[in-house]
Amino acid sequence: MERIPVAGPSITQKEIDYVTDAVTNAWYANANLYHQRFEKAFSEYLGVRYTIALPSCTSAIHLALLALGVGPGDEVVVPEITWIASAAPISYVGATPVFADIDARTWCLSRESFERCISPRTRAVIPVDLYGNVADMTDIARVAHQAGITVIEDAAQAAGAEFRGRKAGSLGDVGVFSFHGSKTLTTGEGGMLVTNDQALFDRVLVLRDHGRRPGDRLFFNSEVAYKYKMSSLQAALGLAQLERLEELIGRKREIFSWYRACLAGVEGVTLNCEAPDTKSAFWMVTMVLGARYAIEKDRLMVLLEQRGIDSRPFFHPLSSLPAYAHTPQAEAGRRRNPVAYGVSRCAINLPSALNLTRQQVGYVCDVVKEILRETRIERATESESPANVATS
Ligand SMILES: Cc1ncc(COP(=O)(O)O)c(C=O)c1O
Repeated sequence: MERIPVAGPSITQKEIDYVTDAVTNAWYANANLYHQRFEKAFSEYLGVRYTIALPSCTSAIHLALLALGVGPGDEVVVPEITWIASAAPISYVGATPVFADIDARTWCLSRESFERCISPRTRAVIPVDLYGNVADMTDIARVAHQAGITVIEDAAQAAGAEFRGRKAGSLGDVGVFSFHGSKTLTTGEGGMLVTNDQALFDRVLVLRDHGRRPGDRLFFNSEVAYKYKMSSLQAALGLAQLERLEELIGRKREIFSWYRACLAGVEGVTLNCEAPDTKSAFWMVTMVLGARYAIEKDRLMVLLEQRGIDSRPFFHPLSSLPAYAHTPQAEAGRRRNPVAYGVSRCAINLPSALNLTRQQVGYVCDVVKEILRETRIERATESESPANVATS
């Protein structure tokens, strides 16, 4: 039996045609054709004025922080639960990441915890649209703007999601996306920075091209900066994927609905929540186990692997990782963020690749139920999951 992958793209003839055209024709005077088409289409899709295609989301966060002038002595609030790429660029620029707790239902940044993390040194906050869900961005932006803090929305995992009818990535002062091969909209590797702020946009254009102004034909560098560019082949792939994004999101939502139906009624299992004012992109179907199951995520992953099923651990709290664990901010995070620690202990991402079949999802659910039957312990259910997560 073939392994069931945890993530992977949907590639059709459209993508092959666009990339073939780019590799054939996007040179000489047409070198930037696909960048322009991809960026323009992305702007229109999001309803945001400026978009810059980049080699990764990590570079987009790095450029956003640089363009804002964030540096040593500054603090940036980031949720405990995210891929390290949300926080690493804060360290690149010499600023301090401050780890805030997550909300028990959305698993995204908790507005209350963010508020408690604000200090006179806070310059920015990076809410993360975790697993394709969106935090209450109205509340987070209100708190941030009252305190003079810039909101960088990390929509790496959430292309196609919506909050109150607005697209994920357009809800902060700056938005960033990843088009890594595991993402719903992929360019293999790639990213995008979006904003309505013209000054920030202009600054990013210089910073991402070794300190050259756009259109500079004299190769005259005004400062030492960075080389963060996407290739035209990637831009062509991105354009084709963007034109199919609604279809791809529909597929993700369908995969989630299969899991929801198959796992309905299994006590103590919580899947991704979707608040009434949110349209989740369900990038990764995620399962959190309640306290009645005597199993941690690593063991669960091994048992699934033995049955041919790939999975991923729910992100580890950033303050628990060796990369940050030694810092004073990590020590504070470990004390301050019980929800992140509670949920992360016993949660995994289930296979969510775009090529999954209903039959494969059925098989995964049968195996999950079997494992859970064997690991269930009779325990009071009062505090069902470690973070008291409501069953979806
Ligand atoms: C939340 C989040 N932010 C940032 C990134 C970084 O994206 P990239 O790999 O394109 O740099 C990722 C990648 O998975 C991510 O999940």
